[in-house]
Amino acid sequence: MTNILVIDSSANGNGSVTKLLVADALAGLLQAHPGATVTRHDLGANPVPHVTADNLAGLRGEPVTETEKATRALSDQLVAELKAADVILVGAPMYNFSVSTVLRSWFDHVLRAGITFAYTAEGPKGLLDGKRAIVIEARGGLYSEGPAKAIDFQEPYLRQLFAFIGITDVTFVHAEKIGFGPDARSAAIEGARAKLANITGQAA
Ligand SMILES: Cc1cc2nc3c(=O)[nH]c(=O)nc-3n(C[C@H](O)[C@H](O)[C@H](O)COP(=O)(O)O)c2cc1C
Repeated sequence: MTNILVIDSSANGNGSVTKLLVADALAGLLQAHPGATVTRHDLGANPVPHVTADNLAGLRGEPVTETEKATRALSDQLVAELKAADVILVGAPMYNFSVSTVLRSWFDHVLRAGITFAYTAEGPKGLLDGKRAIVIEARGGLYSEGPAKAIDFQEPYLRQLFAFIGITDVTFVHAEKIGFGPDARSAAIEGARAKLANITGQAA
């Protein structure tokens, strides 16, 4: 059976482009894999806590306090979901040239030494394999080509975060120029939908 893990990370509710496209992509995946199980997180509505002095030992170290123990339990749960997933579908708005902080927090909880990656004599090694990720990125401007490509710290960063834990089969779909007016926004959404229709039909 196919397991799909869905991670939304927009702070925008009904107006979110990534959430709209993630819902479309999920529908496409479920059409291709009718019996699939779906695990979902809307991090914009229910964020994973940021790493602070109060909870750090839950992620790296020995949890002692109740907060640290709760953080370890949450991290273990998020890692288990990730390990169980065949397809990871991520909605990633560009915030200040990179990912939203809630998505970064999710990664802070699932990049765990000895569990999703290991330090070896040859350097760090990802411990997950056989997984596919589909990442839908929405941006106000244009970064996939042209002068702003050099300041796209979102896509290379996401590629690295996934590769670090062994997920190298990552497909990025862009909805760009969202801030260029309604026509540009509609064109971006339709363009992304067309790409997603091809991708989700073939995933996993
Ligand atoms: C806090 C914040 C920061 C943003 N930073 C950028 C940015 O650096 N570059 C850009 O092109 N658009 C930026 N935007 C615009 C969003 O990328 C755009 O609205 C996109 O549609 C957000 O995805 P969503 O619709 O799923 O929320 C920003 C929006 C917000 C709310």
